[in-house]
Amino acid sequence: MSRVPMVAGNWKMNGSLASSCDLLEKIEEQSDSIKGVDIAVFAPYIYLPAVCEKLKSSSIITGAQNLCKYDSGAYTGEVSASMLQDFSVDAVILGHSERRHVFGESSADVAEKVKIAVAAEITPVFCVGEKLEERERGKTEAVILEQMNAVIDLCGVEIFSKVIVAYEPVWAIGTGITATPEQAQEVHAYIRGLIAEQNSSIAADLRLLYGGSVKPDNAKGLFSMNDIDGGLIGGASLKAEDFISICKSAID
Ligand code: PGA
Repeated sequence: MSRVPMVAGNWKMNGSLASSCDLLEKIEEQSDSIKGVDIAVFAPYIYLPAVCEKLKSSSIITGAQNLCKYDSGAYTGEVSASMLQDFSVDAVILGHSERRHVFGESSADVAEKVKIAVAAEITPVFCVGEKLEERERGKTEAVILEQMNAVIDLCGVEIFSKVIVAYEPVWAIGTGITATPEQAQEVHAYIRGLIAEQNSSIAADLRLLYGGSVKPDNAKGLFSMNDIDGGLIGGASLKAEDFISICKSAID
């Protein structure tokens, strides 16, 4: 299997400029010695210029947590893909459940964002995942299918050669309740299968991250599953020691 694992820190709306720089320095100090895993940090917009500057000659991938589906114009409070390009931002989280469920982004909105990010050569980390009541009603696959199909219908399946998918069950995010490795693997295999129905080589190369209460003590079990290629880490990415330990768990 040729997929390089990735461990990505989603800092969400946390920290200050000083604490973000401090966290980054601690991650950077240790990241050089970790080979065979792509390490990424997704910082709040306002800290991105500082983060990009600090990581200019580092292998750590820099990312934003969202972008606007429009390129420019009267969209107060929004940030476009071309603005992110100005700072050489490598990647962007799109469709995070907090964007979908707190800020009301639809699957169609997210699909447009995926399209615009790829056109700007910014790698989307495209998030999908079901809520607890959807899982309890046996709707997990239907929810994932709808979220995936929005992108496939707008952009074609080929776009997944340039997209990373993160499966993040909403009930596991920030709750301390992690999906078991088997539960996560089942959904990851479903997602890969969906892509494989249309293009088996894109499916084989697609990187699928798991997110939702990944911690140093459960990362290895999750990352050792066949279709789990790393993680999108929230809370534990704010502590350098925990984040680095999770990064190391992604190496065989
Ligand atoms: P968590 O967040 O690790 O704090 O559960 C993950 C995420 O929302 O990306």
